[in-house]
Amino acid sequence: MRILVTGGAGFLGSSLVEFLVEHGHDVTVLDNFWRGRKENLQRIEQSITLVEADACLSSSYQRIANPETIDIVYHLAAINGTKWFHEEPRLVMDVNLNSTLRSLEFAEQNNCRYVFTSSPESFGESEVMPLGADESAVFSAPQHHQRHAYGASKYLGEIAVQHAVRKGLDARIVRPFNGYGPRLLGNEYGQVVSMMIKSALEEGVVIVHGDGSQTRSLTYIDDLVRGIVASGDIEDISGSCINLGTEDEISMFDLAKRIASLVEQETGQAICVEFGNGYPGDSKRRLPNLLQAQNHLHWKAEVSLEEGLLQTLRSML
Ligand SMILES: NC(=O)c1ccc[n+]([C@@H]2O[C@H](COP(=O)([O-])OP(=O)(O)OC[C@H]3O[C@@H](n4cnc5c(N)ncnc54)[C@H](O)[C@@H]3O)[C@@H](O)[C@H]2O)c1
Repeated sequence: MRILVTGGAGFLGSSLVEFLVEHGHDVTVLDNFWRGRKENLQRIEQSITLVEADACLSSSYQRIANPETIDIVYHLAAINGTKWFHEEPRLVMDVNLNSTLRSLEFAEQNNCRYVFTSSPESFGESEVMPLGADESAVFSAPQHHQRHAYGASKYLGEIAVQHAVRKGLDARIVRPFNGYGPRLLGNEYGQVVSMMIKSALEEGVVIVHGDGSQTRSLTYIDDLVRGIVASGDIEDISGSCINLGTEDEISMFDLAKRIASLVEQETGQAICVEFGNGYPGDSKRRLPNLLQAQNHLHWKAEVSLEEGLLQTLRSML
């Protein structure tokens, strides 16, 4: 098949692209390297077509040769990373929404199947758990903080996708729940698992944001890639919203302790756990209802947290 992956140089996108290439597909990556990295594509750079361009502009899609032969669009381009949500909420809204609208138009014009990578943050601060396909979003008043620029942009993206489905497009929505694994950024604009590992390795300390009681369902990259691919492969599920995650919750304090002891075990270095400031609007829990993933995709996460953390740590040594 011919497949377009927007955001294909990022953490999730580059592993998805590798998987697709290894399974014989002809893959075009559209990425402007805002956060993605060329080295993420190094292993397969000879086998893909790279369009270095802004996914928010229609003109970028005009650079794709024979667009009518593209079978599937996986749309992953977005601004991700909590610090950005607070610092640059307008940029987050601009990129996340406009890249979704433009890539949807491309899929409609060329009759492609479309897979939108949404997020559990599209539910905002909903306290209904587990989060199912039909829960409503809860967004707090914007004068308090603007974090939900990200979640709301994903929510609006889902509206656009469902509208396209109503107009006849074959489209699906996936919501990865806290992905982690090799290539996840560990700098201050990164995400939790890699940030904890990086600061343990470089400073001998793991920082927990807030009181550490907030829980997450962490999902290893290989499991996510399998789920995203399956959501694009299966017939007759247009309009489905599929959560990809696990039912194993871990508090951020427990995660910090697990990472500290794993780093001690692998490096012999003593690591301590400290508390730092949390971000406003951070959900207390984020637990997926996995019925759609089980019923539609026959998908289940397989990599244990222990194994996934070890692989992630070893990739950062
Ligand atoms: N990582 C997770 O756990 C997770 C969870 C839920 C949803 N998601 C979603 O999955 C997708 C991929 O996330 P990720 O963690 O790999 O993030 P990432 O930042 O590593 O990847 C996003 C990619 O989009 C690219 N990009 C940004 N702006 C662009 C633009 N204007 N034009 C073209 N490319 C642009 C970046 O350069 C990067 O390569 C995102 O849509 C994200 O919101 C990720």
